Amino acid sequence: MPQTLAEMAVDVLTTADGREKTRKSRAYAAEWFAARKDGGSLPIGQAQPPLRPSRPEQPGLLDPRDVPKRKPGSPQGRIALLHAVAHIELNAVDLHWDIIPRFTDTRMPVGFYDDWVKAADEESKHFNLMCDCLEEEGSHYGALPAHAGMWQAAEDTRDDIMGRLAVVPMVLEARGLDVTPNMIQLFKNAKATSAVKALETIYAEEVSHVAYGSKWFHFLCGRDDVDPVPRFHELVRKYFHGPLKPPFNEEKRADAGMAPDFYWPLVEQST
Ligand SMILES: [Fe+2]
Ligand SMILES: [Fe+2]
Repeated sequence: MPQTLAEMAVDVLTTADGREKTRKSRAYAAEWFAARKDGGSLPIGQAQPPLRPSRPEQPGLLDPRDVPKRKPGSPQGRIALLHAVAHIELNAVDLHWDIIPRFTDTRMPVGFYDDWVKAADEESKHFNLMCDCLEEEGSHYGALPAHAGMWQAAEDTRDDIMGRLAVVPMVLEARGLDVTPNMIQLFKNAKATSAVKALETIYAEEVSHVAYGSKWFHFLCGRDDVDPVPRFHELVRKYFHGPLKPPFNEEKRADAGMAPDFYWPLVEQST
């Protein structure tokens, strides 16, 4: 049994099956927060995270250009969308656990670990919600091919905690805030009640993940006496390949502590 938070993280990362990965993730999160409630905390410790997390044999991973496109309004299109979100959520579970053992050389307050354990727990719930919706539709996670390359951002930023915060929560998860309202509408139009409920939960909880990224990015900038906006631009240009795409969900981004001067200047960036 893992004794430290870092060991728990590595155990989640090296578990391949999605339901089993998220079961462990939720159990470790409960253990962490039980210890925190009593005013203590589990040791953070040290453990070597794998370069890439373990994943199930299915779904097969394809280059995004090769993933078949389905009409978004059709039942098959909706299943494909739920499947794509399930894949994103599973990736997010691993991303939030990975940041914990990956950067233990950087001294961080215990609140940093609270935030990523909570985010990982929520992503685990999101993955399970998407799997439940898929199963309700007679499908399952693994039935369709999924996008390859989603772990690329994690690999690229494996030595750079500020790069990780800039790209993962503050670019990729913020993008989720931009696109989720339309997705919810699509399922509302189809009267797919459980998918609407699940996506609304996801949408509400994702704001805090972006906020955690922004909070700890600003924390590190403050500790190093660095101006956050130019540093953010520099890191996104270095690690994120391509421009940011408007329209942005400015209201939710603001809730998450991201002002427009962070993202608008990156729209015109050439690849
Ligand atoms: Fe999520
Ligand atoms: Fe998230």
